[in-house]
Amino acid sequence: MMPSRALVLGILALTTTLSPCRGEDDIKANHVGSYGITTYQSYGPNGQYTFEFDGNEELYVDLDKKETVWRIPEFGQLLTADPQGGLRNIAAAKFNLNLLKKRSNSTPAINEVPEVTVFPKSPVLLGQPNILVCFVDNIFPPVVNITWLRNSESVTETVYETSFITKSDHSFQKMSYLTFIPSDDDVYDCKVEHWGLEEPALKHWEPKIPAPMSELTETVVCALGLSVGIVGIMVGTIFIIQGLRSGGSSRQPGPL
Ligand SMILES: *[C@@H]1O[C@H](CO)[C@@H](O)[C@H](O)[C@H]1NC(C)=O
Repeated sequence: MMPSRALVLGILALTTTLSPCRGEDDIKANHVGSYGITTYQSYGPNGQYTFEFDGNEELYVDLDKKETVWRIPEFGQLLTADPQGGLRNIAAAKFNLNLLKKRSNSTPAINEVPEVTVFPKSPVLLGQPNILVCFVDNIFPPVVNITWLRNSESVTETVYETSFITKSDHSFQKMSYLTFIPSDDDVYDCKVEHWGLEEPALKHWEPKIPAPMSELTETVVCALGLSVGIVGIMVGTIFIIQGLRSGGSSRQPGPL
């Protein structure tokens, strides 16, 4: 009952016939085949099948559980997607990757240097629950550890991570979300480990709360405002009285 079933089938057919975009390996003997939305690599149990629509991930197939996982769970109540299609694509990707490894004489892949950005989802207010986003761009190969530190201590609860998001240049993006309550005392770091980095990258973030006005400043601002207001009323009254007087005199009948 998926409205875009024809589209899905079209894309599935396309990805299985697409020639591989990239199949390489690196010093850790990792080989990556990226076929549109299907990614398979020989390092560890790493493969990923995602279905994207307009650049947004709609679902991925859990390769262990052989299940479709919807990015927004409500979609699963409206649409259906057979995980078998994804599993078949992964099998094809694995097969093609092996051919490519041979064809390239296992040429080492170049590890890219990932770029890390940390920002809050909503404007930060102390005590107001919020989400910190760690956005990691230019990931290749797609093997990365993204973790969070609060005051230099690792945080594991309230963390959620996306799959690898494909990009047209065959690198990947990934986001990690940390639900948190901003506090004056807490500082955060997003820690990224990747073979392209000599040592883990730490991206620091702490709440920037505008300093509240001191009581003295508040009193001065209030007094200034009040006096400007009073002067305004006085000047206005004088003008009105003057206007009434001159208006009255002009209405006097002039000499005949
Ligand atoms: C990710 O963490 C695991 C476990 O600590 C480690 O074995 C692995 O080397 C790390 N991966 C990268 C890319 O640094």
